[in-house]
Amino acid sequence: MEIIKSPEEMHAWARARALSGKTISLVPTMGFFHEGHLSLMRMAAKQCDLVVVSLFVNPTQFGPNEDLDRYPRDFERDMALVQQEKVAAVFAPTPDLMYPQGFQTQVSVANLTTHLCGQSRPGHFAGVTTVVSKLFNIIQPEVAVFGEKDFQQLAIIRRMARDLNIPVKIVSHPIVREADGLAMSSRNTNLNPANRAAALSLSTALQLARERVGQGVRSVAELTKILEAHILSFSGTAIDYVSFVDFETLEPMTVAEARTVLALAVRIDGKVRLIDNGFVIPQAVG
Ligand code: PAF
Repeated sequence: MEIIKSPEEMHAWARARALSGKTISLVPTMGFFHEGHLSLMRMAAKQCDLVVVSLFVNPTQFGPNEDLDRYPRDFERDMALVQQEKVAAVFAPTPDLMYPQGFQTQVSVANLTTHLCGQSRPGHFAGVTTVVSKLFNIIQPEVAVFGEKDFQQLAIIRRMARDLNIPVKIVSHPIVREADGLAMSSRNTNLNPANRAAALSLSTALQLARERVGQGVRSVAELTKILEAHILSFSGTAIDYVSFVDFETLEPMTVAEARTVLALAVRIDGKVRLIDNGFVIPQAVG
């Protein structure tokens, strides 16, 4: 497995492989790997001849008061984990190589970014789409694999690839959860034991929503009230959003139905912001 730091070298590596007839699937990450990332890599290995994993904590997708400095990093540990997967190369540039002096271009998607995380994290998605466009241009993968935990990010990247005619197939992987239901996230490492208990407010809210919808409660206003009370019953939680949205347009819905995704963002102890999501009628979708 090769570790490549410079965008030019990465591009040359990928181009040489493509010219020799190899297909490449890309797994974009910010590192601090967990089972969720490893599942993306395994899915990517099934799609193409070679897997490239990018590992870059992208500063432009963090707001001024967000957790860029506290975002967990452990390059050695990540390399030990990735060595065990079928990964041909890791692209791990530094910020100055990705954003050299004079950098001034941004890729942004309009409407989809105004909902959900877009409300409390202004500029976040422009940072994501800019860096993902750069990764697509540098590596030119046939396939790129993203996790469904970042459900809004996935919708935005799909839109961007379609709108800009980027010849990449976007593939998604279902959320990978801990045994007790907590969605895996690199940020979970910043949870102390009390916060870890409060973090279960998200996955249990999702379960509760499915139960209530199954029992016939379809009014989003009513469901929202039930879920907010549930989340706030865990100590140290503050709700960023509890939203029922259409899975494609991300527009808010007033009645829960087959197209409805419940999207949640909760701050734990004021420090760690966690997200989770899922269809409210899971069996109704593929
Ligand atoms: O999902 C992430 O880890 C990041 O947003 C991504 C897609 C790697 C872009 O920095």
